[in-house]
Amino acid sequence: MSALAVKSLYKIFGNRADEAVGRLAGGAPRAEALAGLPATAAVIDATFEVRPGEIFVVMGLSGSGKSTLIRMLNGLLRPTAGSVRIDGVEVTSLKPAALRKLRRDKVSMVFQHFALMPHRTVLENAGYALEVAGLPKAQRRERAMDALRMVGLTEWADKLPHDLSGGMRQRVGLARALAAGTDILLMDEAFSALDPLIRREIQDQLLELQAELGKTIVFITHDLNEAMRLGDRIAVMRDGRIVQIGTAEEILTDPANDYVAQFVADVDRTRILTAASVMEKPHHVLDVNAGPRVTARALRESQTSVVYVTGPGKRFLGTVTEDEVLRALRENRPNLDGYVSGERVRTVTEETAVADLFADCAESQHPVAVLDDRDRLTGVIPRITLLSALASATPDEAPHASAPHPPVPRPAEPATGPAEAELVGDKEKSA
Ligand SMILES: Nc1ncnc2c1ncn2[C@@H]1O[C@H](COP(=O)(O)OP(=O)(O)OP(=O)(O)O)[C@@H](O)[C@H]1O
Ligand SMILES: [Mg+2]
Repeated sequence: MSALAVKSLYKIFGNRADEAVGRLAGGAPRAEALAGLPATAAVIDATFEVRPGEIFVVMGLSGSGKSTLIRMLNGLLRPTAGSVRIDGVEVTSLKPAALRKLRRDKVSMVFQHFALMPHRTVLENAGYALEVAGLPKAQRRERAMDALRMVGLTEWADKLPHDLSGGMRQRVGLARALAAGTDILLMDEAFSALDPLIRREIQDQLLELQAELGKTIVFITHDLNEAMRLGDRIAVMRDGRIVQIGTAEEILTDPANDYVAQFVADVDRTRILTAASVMEKPHHVLDVNAGPRVTARALRESQTSVVYVTGPGKRFLGTVTEDEVLRALRENRPNLDGYVSGERVRTVTEETAVADLFADCAESQHPVAVLDDRDRLTGVIPRITLLSALASATPDEAPHASAPHPPVPRPAEPATGPAEAELVGDKEKSA
């Protein structure tokens, strides 16, 4: 079940809202559909579900409807049409008292300009939601201290907000939401006012906390890199509509339209794309119990100088080279045991960012081995593959009159078919 489910949600400001919804429902662009109506469509036909424990990012330019959308999720704004369900409860039909309870017990919100009360200590600020909820002081203190510990501000508990830096103040905001103990956090541009370095730090902290707490988070940002860093999935909004929902990788590699493609054009893809997305199927993988004869044949057939060897449970053990197979043959050995070396190829995990593969690829004698979380060999990355992945991941630069760049070297397409390409083998591929 989803923690949060939004269906055909609309918010129209102004008059004749229902008429506006009718006109927009067909999918017409906002300006066209509302021509002549005294209404602004802030959110149009939004449908999505957020899974428990997920960070769901809503990204879009200023005015695209992000804040309006998030404020409908906890009932701060009443939708013009559509449905919002939290844990199966229809939020749009809750009475004010029930809505307040929802915001107290289930959904906390962190804003960009988090208003801390200047005359209260950090601890009192962190525990404010609990005070409003009427919790006794000792309990409040305990939970607020706990939350301050999570955001690394224990030592600042008795200070006043003006003693804190901007980043720290924002962490108090986060602590307040955490102290409330709700399963769902709504964060509207919560980090946008911070300097880049501090922002990165607090992003890391959020990811760490999330790994520990597993909250359901809807995180709004207009910063693509932040979206890609934090989001398990990202919804891209444009002019009130959600134009694409997907993982960072999906949005980068398969943008739904030109708008999204342009939006993501400047992203450093090598930080988003993973080893799993560029790796190739490993040919010539043999079990450690294979005999040297079988191995020799595999080497001959694939015209390579190295085979990848796996052991019990398909765990990757290392490689065996031609020379060693010959030795094993000469010494009449029943299998490859004792000849496998883990030295010649580097291993990476499926999640390793492409940006972090370069050193391994450069230092590995043969294609880098990609392992899954159980150390099984799931793919290999020859250097040439990394280079071509990089070439296609780098957006073509617009021609600059002033500074002509040499074109990004793209490896030539092999003239051979796939079967022949396979025979080219690793020797040449990794050269
Ligand atoms: N109370 C309101 N009355 C009238 N129009 C509004 C109201 N609130 C928002 N809007 C309009 O709705 C649209 C979406 O605004 P919203 O604040 O949701 O965008 P946003 O994506 O959060 O932008 P930003 O990145 O600047 O915060 C805008 O055109 C805005 O002018
Ligand atoms: Mg906003």
